[in-house]
Amino acid sequence: MDNLIYEKISNHVGVLKINRPKYLNSLNIKTLNEINMFLDEIKKDNDLYVLIITGEGDKAFVAGADIKEMKDMNSIEAMEFSKFGNKVFKKIENLEKVVIGAVNGYCLGGGMELALSCDIRIGSNNSKFGQPEVSLGIIPGFGATQRLLNVIGIGKAKELIFIGDMIDSKEALNIGLLNKIVDNPVEEAINISNKIIQKGPIAIKQAKKSVNFSYNKNLALDYEVECFANCFNTEDQKEGMEAFTQKRKAEFENR
Ligand code: CAA
Repeated sequence: MDNLIYEKISNHVGVLKINRPKYLNSLNIKTLNEINMFLDEIKKDNDLYVLIITGEGDKAFVAGADIKEMKDMNSIEAMEFSKFGNKVFKKIENLEKVVIGAVNGYCLGGGMELALSCDIRIGSNNSKFGQPEVSLGIIPGFGATQRLLNVIGIGKAKELIFIGDMIDSKEALNIGLLNKIVDNPVEEAINISNKIIQKGPIAIKQAKKSVNFSYNKNLALDYEVECFANCFNTEDQKEGMEAFTQKRKAEFENR
């Protein structure tokens, strides 16, 4: 695995790092593939009760899906990409282990969607959150149009998705996106894990299944995939992503 680092820090707790710090751990297809394969492997580790997910380096958890890779996608490719991302994040959400997101630095777009698939989210004072997709002429494609409103409510979810601005960790805590802010999110995630692993392991698995049961039924992820794909092959998407690679602000025309 080139883009992942995994360390089992005790019998029952493992830490997965998304490892593309040069590109702020953005999720390209290769990384998503690796996460997918990794999840299939750790599913078999019956001793593992808690998985902590974090980003390598101190700058980012994950700064979104890889824009440079998405830039030239057509709507069919975008649909496949979104379907695949959703499949992987659904595996995280329904993994029979507790998943804690230790959010260090930027947590944007697909990164926020990764965090939303975790059961618990711990941030630090330098974490920044946002769904900036509309600045790129697209919408979130890995579940945020569905999961975000369940976590923070429809009004705040629409604000983040329609405006695309970043919020800091204090606001993220206030709106319920974060469970806690600490100096060292991985350290705190380990503390929480050490509490969880002392509880009845079957009870924890049953609790997760039960909490997720009706929640999962209300996630219209297929519809999001369709709306995400509709944004591709448009001038807005081309301009939005071209502007990102040229490090300038996108200029969208009236439509
Ligand atoms: N995709 C591809 N490359 C990315 C990236 C991303 N999401 N985020 C950062 N990078 C790359 C940058 O292009 C840059 O690479 P180069 O050195 O080759 O230019 C490198 O990572 C470092 O980033 P910056 O120089 O931009 O760092 P900064 O400190 O100036 O800015 C930032 C940090 C504000 C997070 C900025 O990088 C940024 O805005 N990133 C994009 C965030 C974003 O829009 N995310 C949503 C993606 S769309 C999505 O996720 C769709 C979905 O739901 C599936």
